[in-house]
Amino acid sequence: MLNIAVLVSGGGSNLQAIIDAVACGELPVRIALVLSDRRGAYALERARQHGIPTAVVRPRDYADRPAFDDAVAEILAEHQVELVCLAGFMRLFQADFMRRYAGRVINIHPALLPAFPGLHVQREALEHGVKVSGCTVHFADEGTDTGPIIVQRAVPVLEDDTVETLSARILEQEHLAYVEAIRLYAAGRLRICGRRVRVLPPAPPAGLANCPTEGPTD
Ligand code: GAR
Repeated sequence: MLNIAVLVSGGGSNLQAIIDAVACGELPVRIALVLSDRRGAYALERARQHGIPTAVVRPRDYADRPAFDDAVAEILAEHQVELVCLAGFMRLFQADFMRRYAGRVINIHPALLPAFPGLHVQREALEHGVKVSGCTVHFADEGTDTGPIIVQRAVPVLEDDTVETLSARILEQEHLAYVEAIRLYAAGRLRICGRRVRVLPPAPPAGLANCPTEGPTD
């Protein structure tokens, strides 16, 4: 089973969606580690409640960004992590880390990329006056929210929306999108072709693929 790590900085509602999907058998992966850059992140509490190993790696404890990245990479290796899921993790890794984990880091973002990368994007979407927003799960690369897109889900922007109501509507879709993206990855159905991610059809059920065609019986 695929070993994943979920990297968090805050409340961890996306982490919770992943935990719940694993618990009910919808997502065939093992959450090997939840790692945070903040001691107080509530997401860590969610992990502990489910007996999932946790780690805290704080940038202030390291001399520079490469040293922080190395510390994270070392812990991921210790836990034999195969896929890194950034779920509200408010740090960017540098080029060396991203090269080491190329194609093995995915991120969720609360906007329809490439519109509104970065921070405070629900506010930016409202201020810009878009009529539709949503969320994106994408492979991470060295840029900010720039990697190839795996799954997007859209929501309407309503006349009386505030940042809070729009964020909540997007978050509901994030939980579905993230589980879907991890499921596709775990099933080996994603291929990165330049900027595009091809989603392969599901494999036929085991045992049926090589059945010889039956000939006439008489
Ligand atoms: C989510 O909306 C996620 O898309 C966003 O932080 C929130 C974390 O919520 N991530 C980013 O903005 C990354 N650029 P959660 O802690 O409840 O999962």
